[in-house]
Amino acid sequence: MDYLEIKGGKKLSGNVTISGAKNAALPIIAATILSDKEITLTNLPNVVDIRTLLKLLTMLGGTVDHDKTVAKINNGSITSTKAVYEIVSQMRASILVLGPLLARFGECEVSLPGGCAIGQRPIDLHLKALETMGAKIEIKGGYVHAMAPEGLHGANIIFDKITVGGTENIVMAAALAKGTTTIINAAKEPEVVQLCEMIADAGVKIEGIGTNELTIHGTDREPLNFKTVDIIPDRIEAGTYLCAGAITHSSITLNKVNPQHIRTSTDKLESMGCTFDIGEDTMTIYPPKELKPVDLTTMEYPGFPTDMQAQFMAVAVMSKGESLIEERLFENRFMHVSELNRLGADIWLKGSIAAVKGVDELYGADIMATDLRASSALVLAALVAEGTTNVHRIYHLDRGYDDLEGKLSGLGADITRKRESR
Ligand code: UD1
Repeated sequence: MDYLEIKGGKKLSGNVTISGAKNAALPIIAATILSDKEITLTNLPNVVDIRTLLKLLTMLGGTVDHDKTVAKINNGSITSTKAVYEIVSQMRASILVLGPLLARFGECEVSLPGGCAIGQRPIDLHLKALETMGAKIEIKGGYVHAMAPEGLHGANIIFDKITVGGTENIVMAAALAKGTTTIINAAKEPEVVQLCEMIADAGVKIEGIGTNELTIHGTDREPLNFKTVDIIPDRIEAGTYLCAGAITHSSITLNKVNPQHIRTSTDKLESMGCTFDIGEDTMTIYPPKELKPVDLTTMEYPGFPTDMQAQFMAVAVMSKGESLIEERLFENRFMHVSELNRLGADIWLKGSIAAVKGVDELYGADIMATDLRASSALVLAALVAEGTTNVHRIYHLDRGYDDLEGKLSGLGADITRKRESR
């Protein structure tokens, strides 16, 4: 197992190029199941989660030619519709194959993902919606067995809660269903939008893209013929590097970013005293000498993203004053609090609210990453902690951050990947 050794206190400078969005690429890879022809995906992030989902496609019988940022996928050769525990347990997002497999083949088995470090994360809304579209669903032996031998039919789906993965699964299922599906209370994250655009570009009529109400006119099991998809920039990776600039009081420039997608993060950093130069696909952050505290509440897009909550908490730790951070989406997404406190932070937790009292200094220590975004918050704090911080269990980071240590080293951080001796 690897860990990161970070010697804090270095100023950062220069440019960093943002990779493609993992959370856009995953549903897009799942959507390739809706086709029996070759499709090319470009600007994929070079991260473990992408390799895991591509491996699942090959296990189903698909053909995948993948080299770092480009994949050519042909799912004309799929022979199995079973997504096994071995893969789904590594990555919850594998549940995204449920909708497309069922829609194209009329049957599939997908291992139940189970809980994860940030909470229970059920898939009841995905299943209920598929049932409304005519699927028979049985849960047996840890697997969801879904059947629709005559194909799925269009339906009115009303999500009780806004769900990103649920919306994506149902959009994919609806694309090959018979008739029209309306999704009310749909998610409208940029990643959902790109998935809808990919499917619409393949000839499926979709109304309401980018809104909370989507109407999809299905092809009645006619497989789709996709055009090449260039994955959108990762808004969470971009936000994380802005936080790296803010916490180290360093001006850095992001290349290949979509400034529109990270408006809530830049707004919050502005309220903390940062200023920005914003171009079409570049942005430079200018942090103040002293950061002001921040109040934020996580919400669905375009609200403040839960995937940026941990990183902002790290920045708040180094601000002058008291910040309040409320997590509304996941019930257990504060695992980074105790690790930040180990570095000398002063964070007090009550239920879904964290009160952060800014401190003048943090001190290096051994700390443990618990989930993907919590890990990046620990790395941010380590960049300013006095002495050496070892961040253990960084396999979480490798799931979703493309070459984090390479990009941070390029900006001037003292960060080295090492192998645990035991
Ligand atoms: C996606 C993102 C994740 C992000 C999250 C919220 C991917 C691969 N992952 O996860 O990084 O943190 O959106 O922006 O894109 N829920 C239910 N029942 C369901 C489905 C969801 O109760 O059937 C609940 C969840 O437990 C959670 C909330 O709805 O409390 C939102 O979850 P959801 O939007 O589905 O998150 P994911 O798609 O899993």
